[in-house]
Amino acid sequence: MSADRQYHNIALVGFMGAGKSTVGHVLAEILGFELVDTDKVIESRAGKRIADIFAEEGEPAFRRRESDLARELESAQGKVISTGGGLVVNPENLASLRRHALIFCLWASPEVIFERVRHQSHRPLLQTPDPLGKIRELLATRAPFYKQADVLVGVDYRAPVETARFIAASYRRQRAGGVAPVAA
Ligand code: S3P
Repeated sequence: MSADRQYHNIALVGFMGAGKSTVGHVLAEILGFELVDTDKVIESRAGKRIADIFAEEGEPAFRRRESDLARELESAQGKVISTGGGLVVNPENLASLRRHALIFCLWASPEVIFERVRHQSHRPLLQTPDPLGKIRELLATRAPFYKQADVLVGVDYRAPVETARFIAASYRRQRAGGVAPVAA
């Protein structure tokens, strides 16, 4: 991490079902920050669910909305930004987050992700006959992007509150000039 990085926000990135929204809520409360959930902002602006944006406008339109929001968030202060799982796959979005946020990736294994999402139906990319296969495939393609986060936090064996406390402590230490630990 370069010494001259300026950040006033935390960004949570990682695959669908890794727990970004849940961790984001707890983290925002611990730090007294405001939570911005990019999926929720996009849904409320579009006046429809993400599944409907995908179905009616197509994925590229959703990605454009995501990139517009990422750029807009560059002026944010004191926010925990919980990002949709595909947001950092666009290098411009990742670069944009890096300009103002310390980036934490919640890293979960395909099996744990599958267990968490198998009874949910709101994620269009996982509405396939073989969701576990799709998770493995997408995770393999996206891993190089997720691994560009400042800190990787393994969440397979951590409760969301524990993850949130770890991130809060890591962020405070980093702001105070220390080195952010890389969690296993
Ligand atoms: C997506 C993840 C979803 C949502 C959309 C696409 C992705 O967000 O943005 O369904 O490409 O990984 P969550 O990571 O919050 O599920």
